[in-house]
Amino acid sequence: MCGIVGAVAERNISNILLEGLKRLEYRGYDSAGLTVIRDGELHRERQVGKVQELVNAVEKNPSFFEGKIGIAHTRWATHGEPAQCNAHPHVSGKVAVVHNGIVENYAPLKEELIAKGYVFTSQTDTEVVAHLIADAYKQTDNLLQAVQQITPLLHGAFALGVLHVDHPEQLITVRLGSPLVIGIGIGENFIASDQLALLPVTNRFMYLEEGDIAVLTKDDITVYADGEKVARDIKELDAEHHNADKGEFKHYMLKEIYEQPDAVARTVEMGINQQGFKADFLARNEAILAHIKHIQILACGTSYHAGMVAKYWFEDLTRLPCSVEIASEFRYRNPVVVDNTLMICISQSGETADTLSALRDIQRRSKAGEINGFASLALCNVATSSLVRETDIFLPTLAGVEIGVASTKAFTTQLAALMLLVLKIGRVQSRISDDVFNEMIVELHKLSGQLYSSLSLDQAIAELSEKFEARKSAIFLGRGVQFPIALEGALKLKEISYIHAEGYAAGELKHGPLALVDKDMPIVVLAPKDSMLDKLKANMQEVHARHGELFVFAGENTQIESDERLHVIQVPDVNEILAPIVYSVPMQLLSYHVAVLRGTDVDQPRNLAKSVTVE
Ligand code: F6R
Repeated sequence: MCGIVGAVAERNISNILLEGLKRLEYRGYDSAGLTVIRDGELHRERQVGKVQELVNAVEKNPSFFEGKIGIAHTRWATHGEPAQCNAHPHVSGKVAVVHNGIVENYAPLKEELIAKGYVFTSQTDTEVVAHLIADAYKQTDNLLQAVQQITPLLHGAFALGVLHVDHPEQLITVRLGSPLVIGIGIGENFIASDQLALLPVTNRFMYLEEGDIAVLTKDDITVYADGEKVARDIKELDAEHHNADKGEFKHYMLKEIYEQPDAVARTVEMGINQQGFKADFLARNEAILAHIKHIQILACGTSYHAGMVAKYWFEDLTRLPCSVEIASEFRYRNPVVVDNTLMICISQSGETADTLSALRDIQRRSKAGEINGFASLALCNVATSSLVRETDIFLPTLAGVEIGVASTKAFTTQLAALMLLVLKIGRVQSRISDDVFNEMIVELHKLSGQLYSSLSLDQAIAELSEKFEARKSAIFLGRGVQFPIALEGALKLKEISYIHAEGYAAGELKHGPLALVDKDMPIVVLAPKDSMLDKLKANMQEVHARHGELFVFAGENTQIESDERLHVIQVPDVNEILAPIVYSVPMQLLSYHVAVLRGTDVDQPRNLAKSVTVE
C-alpha cells in the first residue's frame, strides 16, 4: 500500500526522503514521487515504476531538489491507473500533499471544487485534498487551521503529509485510519508510514492516535486531538528492529524462511520453559481467559490460514468451540457473536483495514451492551500497531521485521504463538490434562530443530521446482490440520510465481477438482504420518489413476513409494499436531524456487502490498 515519508530539518533532506521510500518498497507500489520547498517554490519529481527511477530522475539535477523540508510517496493505485499524473505529491497552488488510504466521498467534493474553478490534473482522490486545503487556506492564512477545517469533510481511512510554500518551516500530518509514525531527531523531525523508513535517521518514535493532527518543525512536534493540544508517548526502538538487511541472501523472502528456526524458538520461549508456562506469560489476562466460552478468529490471507489451523487445535485440545472467518466477510454480514467470546485477530502488520474494522464493529456492539463478556486479543508481529493498541490482550509473534511481501516467518510464529494460547486457555480452564500438556511442552521444544531439518530440503526442492517452472496451474492437497497448509502452499505459489494454484481438502477432490487432473497437472500433497494418512493415500490413488503427477511431501514411515509420476520428498519426523508448522517450510521453499526460476519479483510481487491498509 502507499507509503509516506516527510522531513523537516536544518540540512538537505532529499536523500533522506529517497532512502525512506526505498525502505517502504516492501509495501508494494507502482509509482513514486517527492516534493521539496526550495527558494520559495515547490520542486516536484514523479515517476512510474520503481523508486530507483525517481532516484535517477533526481540525480540528473540534484541541486534542484535540495531543500530542508519535503514530502515523498510511493503510490499503490486505487483511484486512477499507475501514471505520472496520478503519482503523489499532488499540488494545488502553494500546497503539496501526500496521502495514504482512501477518501471515499471524493466524487461530490471534486464536483464542488470544479464548480469553484479548481482544475484537476489527476484521477486521484488525493488531489481533492490538496485543493480543499488550498481553498480553506485562502480564508485563514493558517495551514494548521486549514487542515483542521477540511479533515472532518473527508470520509474514509487515511494519513496525510502536507506542505505549504509560505510555511517552509512546517510539516503537517494527519492520522485517521492509516498508519503514520513521527520520527524524532535532533534539530530535525520526520514522518513515515512505517518506522522502518526512518531507521537511518532516528530510533525515537512518537505514535499518533486516530484523528491526531500534528505540526512538525525541525525543533518541535505539537499534536492536536479535537483541536486541543495533547501529549503522545515517545518510544525508543531496540537493535532488533534494525535488522532489515538481506545479508548473504538473494531475497528477503529466503532470508526470512531461514530465520524460522530462531523466530519460532523465540516465540515458543516467550511462553514456556522445560517445566511449563513462564510465570509472566499472559498472567495478567488469566481472569479473561478463564471465563471465555467461545473463540472467534478473524484474519486475512496467510494470517487467516494460521487461524484455520488454530481452529483444529482449539477444538481438538480444549473442546472449546472455535470459529474462524475472513475479516472482510465477517464485517459485512451481521454476524452472531455469542456472550463470552474471545475474538482473536491475527495479523502480521496489525494495520490490515478489514481486520481492524471487523474488530471495531464488534467492540461497538459489545459497548452497546449487545454482547456480554466480550474480550479481544491481537496476535501480531508489530507491537506498536493499531491492532495491538485497540485490543484487550496482546500476544506477540517474535518473528522480527518481515520485509518480503509473502509472509513466511510471521506465519510459523503465528502458529507457535497460537499453540501457546491454546495450551494456556486449556490449562486455565482445566481442559487439558497434565499428560497432554507435558507432551506438548516437549514437542514445542523440538520444533526449532525440526525446522532446521526441514530447511535441509532446500536443495532437493530447488531441483524439483524445475518441474513446476512451465506449468500453468497446480493443486495442493492436505487433510485435517494440513488442509490449511495446502491452502497456504497454493497461496504462496500463486502470489510470488504467478502460477494459478488452488488448495483443497483432499476429501473434496472427487467432488469437483478431479476433473482438472491430467498428465499436465502437478498435485502437491502434504502427507505426514498421521491419523488421516490412509484416507489421503486413497485420494492420491484417485490422482494416480488419472495420470496426474504427484509431488508428495511425506513423513517418515509413510510407505509411499516414488515412481515415474510420483515424487516423494521426505520431511523430518514431527508430532502430528505440530506438523503444520514444519510442513509450511517446504511449501515456502517450493514457491520461492519456482518464482526465482520464472524470474518474478520475489520480494515485491506485482499488485500486492505488505500492509493492506485499505479495504
Ligand atoms: C500472503 C500475505 C497476505 C497477508 C494478509 C494479511 O503471503 O502475506 O495474505 O497475510 O494480507 O496481512 P496481515 O497479517 O498483516 O494482517
